[in-house]
Amino acid sequence: MEKYILSIDQGTTSSRAIVFNNDGAIVSVAQKEFTQHFPKPGWVEHDPDEIWGTTLAVIADAMGTKDIKPTQIAAIGITNQRETTVVWDAETGKPIHNAIVWQDRRTASICDDLKEQGLEEEIKDKTGLVVDAYFSGTKIKWLLDNVEGAREKAEQGKLRFGTIDSWLIWKLTGGNTHVTDYTNASRTLIYNIKELEWDDHLLDVLGIPKSMLPEVKQSSEVYGNTVDYHFFGAEVPIAGIAGDQQAATFGQVCYEKGMAKNTYGTGCFMLMNTGEEPVKSENGLLTTIAYGIDGKVNYALEGSIFIAGAAIQWLRDELNLIDNAPDSEYFAKKVDSTDGVYMVPAFAGLGAPYWDMYARGTIVGLTRGTSKEHLIRATLESLAYQTRDVLEAMEADSGIELKTLRVDGGAAMNDFLMQFQADILGTEVERPEINETTALGAAYLAGLAVGYWNNLDELVAKWKRDALFVPNMANETREKLYKGWKRAVERAKDWSE
Ligand code: G3P
Repeated sequence: MEKYILSIDQGTTSSRAIVFNNDGAIVSVAQKEFTQHFPKPGWVEHDPDEIWGTTLAVIADAMGTKDIKPTQIAAIGITNQRETTVVWDAETGKPIHNAIVWQDRRTASICDDLKEQGLEEEIKDKTGLVVDAYFSGTKIKWLLDNVEGAREKAEQGKLRFGTIDSWLIWKLTGGNTHVTDYTNASRTLIYNIKELEWDDHLLDVLGIPKSMLPEVKQSSEVYGNTVDYHFFGAEVPIAGIAGDQQAATFGQVCYEKGMAKNTYGTGCFMLMNTGEEPVKSENGLLTTIAYGIDGKVNYALEGSIFIAGAAIQWLRDELNLIDNAPDSEYFAKKVDSTDGVYMVPAFAGLGAPYWDMYARGTIVGLTRGTSKEHLIRATLESLAYQTRDVLEAMEADSGIELKTLRVDGGAAMNDFLMQFQADILGTEVERPEINETTALGAAYLAGLAVGYWNNLDELVAKWKRDALFVPNMANETREKLYKGWKRAVERAKDWSE
């Protein structure tokens, strides 16, 4: 019987399960959205039990619709929204609170304290990260400080912390395995990415007991087996883990130094593989672990943009300007330009390269003639401008001028946006045939660990281009438009009280 790899892609707004065959082609997909909780302005939470429930449901769906038996799954790969923080009781397996999502800004003041203590350089040096509410460390501190009895329990060794990968593996293995991988650990603000260990001093500063933390493993190895009562009567090895952006980098087969990809999901994340040495950013990017495999670690520079596809969802759900996201292309093309309108979607502050936790979404350049089409176009264009901001930083940090940028994710299917992206970058943009690179990357990591695939060369040979977008805009126009964007960003910054 044919064997497959099952990939679980637990993202910010939905859980997905995708079954891949040996060609790296999609055999089956299932997806389920889950509830976003916004208890206060700037706060974002998920229910970890709902995440688990939707994950199990999509696994059942993806396999059931194609009548795939659990014994046909050679291995499971897991990829996940990163940084989102779950703390649960080790005995009962019950979360002590909703998960605090990566977009959540509630720990901005904890970050300000860290900065006041003069810890920015140490944190950047050890973790590759900037001090921002984005990462897990301050979220763990908040939970221990604010959930009744949590700190005491944590100190007694009774609580466990995990990013979503750890949480799902804990559940899939029936509480037998508490692990994460290098890529997820590198997003916590408490992991030393050079020494490859949890950092005692940073744990001390944030008051986080080490007993809560998962064991950090490579991105491709067997971590444990599913318990049969959860997985339809079979023990299946879980053999790949990577944070979703690193998984997409792996799925886009960016295995050589200098190769980069940009994923247009809820946010937009550009990662460039910088090889086996971490590159320190001088231009507002993060240094992060791209993957750890066969005893070696590859590093990446990352430009994290918090709001991309989420801005299009906002047009759909809050402003009701479009019925569905793909319609944005139709409306944007109805006008030749935005007529000077810029939309800066700083709904969760600004990430790379600005790192302003207090920035807010801003629309500038409105006139009496501004139409719905202009607004929609300005929103789409904001994804491309933000990408140019991080690409410029990346070229400056790495000293590498990018010839082509590989793209994926939902909005990468929008041809108008991809052409505008190539135009505003002055760089070619190429899209692969398989747009589900995040899930594919996790599948590749799991498949490599169990010998389903043999080596990276075999995976490189599977990458096929779907479309190439070549820049077609006069230099002068490009620079004039981009200058307007930079002015708009200035207006969005620092709305702290
Ligand atoms: O760092 C956050 C990122 O991992 C979220 O990705 O695809 O859920 O927007 P996504």
